[in-house]
Amino acid sequence: MSLLLNSSFTGASSACLLQRERSRRRRLHVPGVTCRQGSNGDRSDAARQQQSPLLLDRRDMLLGLGGLYGVTAGPKVLAAPIMPPDLSKCYPATAPALDNKCCPPYVPGETISEYSFPATPLRVRRPAHIVKDDQEYMDKYKEAVRRMKNLPADHPWNYYQQANIHCQYCNYAYHQQNADDVPIQVHFSWIFLPWHRYYLHFYERILGKLIDDDTFTIPFWNWDTKDGMTFPAIFQDAASPLYDPKRDQRHVKDGKILDLKYAITENESTASDSEIIRENLCFIQKTFKHSLSLAELFMGDPVRAGEKEIQEANGQLEVIHNAVHSWVGEPSGNYEDMGDFSTAARDSVFFCHHCNVDRMWDIYRNLRGNRVEFEDNDWLDSTFLFHDENEQLVKVKMRDCLNPTKLRYTFEQVPLPWLGKINCQKTAETKSKATTELSLNRVNEFGTTAQALDASNPLRVIVARPKKNRKKKEKQEKVEVIQIKDIKVTTNETARFDVYVAVPYGDL
Ligand code: C2O
Repeated sequence: MSLLLNSSFTGASSACLLQRERSRRRRLHVPGVTCRQGSNGDRSDAARQQQSPLLLDRRDMLLGLGGLYGVTAGPKVLAAPIMPPDLSKCYPATAPALDNKCCPPYVPGETISEYSFPATPLRVRRPAHIVKDDQEYMDKYKEAVRRMKNLPADHPWNYYQQANIHCQYCNYAYHQQNADDVPIQVHFSWIFLPWHRYYLHFYERILGKLIDDDTFTIPFWNWDTKDGMTFPAIFQDAASPLYDPKRDQRHVKDGKILDLKYAITENESTASDSEIIRENLCFIQKTFKHSLSLAELFMGDPVRAGEKEIQEANGQLEVIHNAVHSWVGEPSGNYEDMGDFSTAARDSVFFCHHCNVDRMWDIYRNLRGNRVEFEDNDWLDSTFLFHDENEQLVKVKMRDCLNPTKLRYTFEQVPLPWLGKINCQKTAETKSKATTELSLNRVNEFGTTAQALDASNPLRVIVARPKKNRKKKEKQEKVEVIQIKDIKVTTNETARFDVYVAVPYGDL
């Protein structure tokens, strides 16, 4: 059984969303729990009152594919795909690090064309730790980024203009065209993967164009394999255009192993390198295993035109992705560049990281026999605008990016160590720690220890299950999910939720 825990944070500014999510997720010591959060600042009071802080009712007990549809829909939903913004209306972003400014220079009357998809041979994206030794490739890559940085500041291809695109669509600079009081947000939902796929695609095509190389691809940070689990060396040379000083030096230097469960507010993992590697692989394995039959769990929940609140509905791949952002960002400020949406794409490693996120999606799709993840026009017809490699403003639909072949790229096939047999049993040591923690919390639950937060009043709910005693095959086909929605936490506080799920004997 999977558990979705959906928390919202009243009045949260989106500037540090990445960090907050990590800190909360880390406090959820329940296996398989996803903590979802986002800014809830613009939610209407009526909607607030309608829902109790911990809402758990029949609608939230879901079984099977399609079960999540409609559950999160608020009253203002148009049941229509998200349409691109009116570019003439760009608002100050919630981006303190950029003085709240990330709007592009507006060109009145710019025409919007259909995108003509590339007709190049299949371009192959390769792992960053391998291209490092390909001098010819590295020279090209650096040259392309150098040229991008040297373009006039107001050119749509300029390096920082390209980075600002991310800020515009994550930090509320644009509103939806068919619901123009509702900001566009490309995280926390089923839009996350396709939007970033297009974003990377155009970025890659522009770099190729700048060096006149139609075969150019960006590398992927192969963080799902041992040799790729450190900060990629190709971004470390301070003299290179790929360098960014705003990073957590404790992590990006000296071959420190990336912790895919990393959370900013907690101490560094004290586990050995090999232990962190094993845990990372197990974490990825578990993510795929739990979500293969229900795309929402991997990719995120629906968000439709006019949805008033950001649905805080990220999938598990996005959660893993956030950890990498947080791990790279410089902790002394607002975790810029990588740890903050508004600045993340100012670090070239952003695209390398997202290239692997994109690859994870591709692997997911392959493992599902290339089935379309959501047969839902509100997803398939969601439309975005980008400047393409011909400086043309183009519109693209999600349905056209589901198979990377259409965009004429693929990924080099590399081993997938997390797909095979790994020992993911807890070691004796971590096991006993987990047990102690559990019993301590049991005590907290009844309010008898000094550290009890507000745990004196545990909420107990009996949830009817649609179907019990399912056969193994049925369980493989459909996942059983409990979704707990709308847990509210005051801004800037950290919080921990413990959820115990007990099933009566004989009810499995
Ligand atoms: Cu748009 Cu990695 O975030």
